[in-house]
Amino acid sequence: MSKKVLITGGAGFIGSHVIRLFVNTYPDYQIINLDNLTYAGNLLNLKDVENKNNYRFIKGDITDVTFIEELFQSERPDSIIHLAAESHVDRSIANPLAFAQTNIIGTIVLLNAFKNLWSENWDEKLFYHVSTDEVYGSLGSEGLFVESTSYSPNSPYSASKASSDHFVRAYGETYNLPYVISNCSNNYGPYQFPEKLIPLFINNIIQQKPLPVYGDGNFIRDWLYVLDHAIAIEMIFHHGKKQETYNIGGFNEWKNIDLVQLLCKQMDIKLNRSPGNSEQLITYIKDRPGHDLRYAIDATKINLELGWSPSVTFEDGLSNTIDWYLKHEDWLHKVTSGDYLNFYAKQYH
Ligand code: NAD
Ligand code: DAU
Repeated sequence: MSKKVLITGGAGFIGSHVIRLFVNTYPDYQIINLDNLTYAGNLLNLKDVENKNNYRFIKGDITDVTFIEELFQSERPDSIIHLAAESHVDRSIANPLAFAQTNIIGTIVLLNAFKNLWSENWDEKLFYHVSTDEVYGSLGSEGLFVESTSYSPNSPYSASKASSDHFVRAYGETYNLPYVISNCSNNYGPYQFPEKLIPLFINNIIQQKPLPVYGDGNFIRDWLYVLDHAIAIEMIFHHGKKQETYNIGGFNEWKNIDLVQLLCKQMDIKLNRSPGNSEQLITYIKDRPGHDLRYAIDATKINLELGWSPSVTFEDGLSNTIDWYLKHEDWLHKVTSGDYLNFYAKQYH
């Protein structure tokens, strides 16, 4: 059956993989990519699909009420996959208001326009909200986040995402708006902006710049290859139960410092540098304020209900990711010029 799917944030890291998957898998769907092209959005991420018949890009801001209302009335999308967000925790510490504006207000503007468009005629409609495991706060050394874990966000970023999740749920309860939410762990892979740990450190290793590890480096994240996240989103979009939440994770916990050491080893080999060369770049710096100790997802629900599980091992995923960045130094160069230099100077002095 044909669908008209509006995907927000499609020029960003995860969004570009979701767009590519949908455009290539569903020639009968009309896929619209709505993105404001902030520093994190880049149409170079979608070069290979930009001329496909079932794909269109629209530049626009999800917080602009008039623009979004008119867009929804003219395009009449039956489904939304909402990824547009400010997504970097360190930037949220420096500028919380921008996160409240995009992540909270932007989500409400979209929910409202969807509600106004369909006036509760909800047959075959869906609002899919893509969220994060950070809404659950921090774990100690034991336990996993399940879908019923209480929300306890600790950063302005996670608080804004938690708030947006609550609004989606509230629109479901109040207006019967059909929704699904997924909360995913840390993604990595091609096209990730080099402000996040893995691409930042790959770029710094290439340039032999210091690798700024926060605090003692003993913080734990659960890493998932981005294509596995895109596949999970595709499965939930088609087969997820309405008004429900799905956790998505890699069953793949790494201490930051262990991950950085593995990355250094792999890069020394790929760059023909002597063993131990990149590790010398590791520099412990002041910790991130409110730094969550550990995230780890229990992805049993999506596995049992939809048959999803991660398909890419961490060693393979990391190796593919490094290869991609080494082959796309032009991309890296483009996204790390201009404003990036100001961000880098402020964040790392
Ligand atoms: P990203 O920062 O790479 O991309 C965000 C995209 O949103 C960019 O293309 C940007 O231009 C666009 N955007 C920002 N503000 C906008 C606005 N006002 N109007 C229209 N477009 C706007 O983010 P990402 O890492 O790809 O994350 C995508 C989504 O997935 C986010 O909602 C994030 O919270 C969630 N998520 C990310 C991860 C992760 O590890 N990166 C994990 C779990 C969930
Ligand atoms: O868990 C999902 C979340 O993962 C997503 O919702 C966010 O959008 C995404 O940015 C990511 O958040 P993190 O804060 O976990 O990712 P980041 O890559 O910024 O940091 C990963 C870990 O590495 C974290 O413990 C902080 C540490 N770190 C990060 C940077 C950028 C460093 O030690 N040094 C650094 O320079």
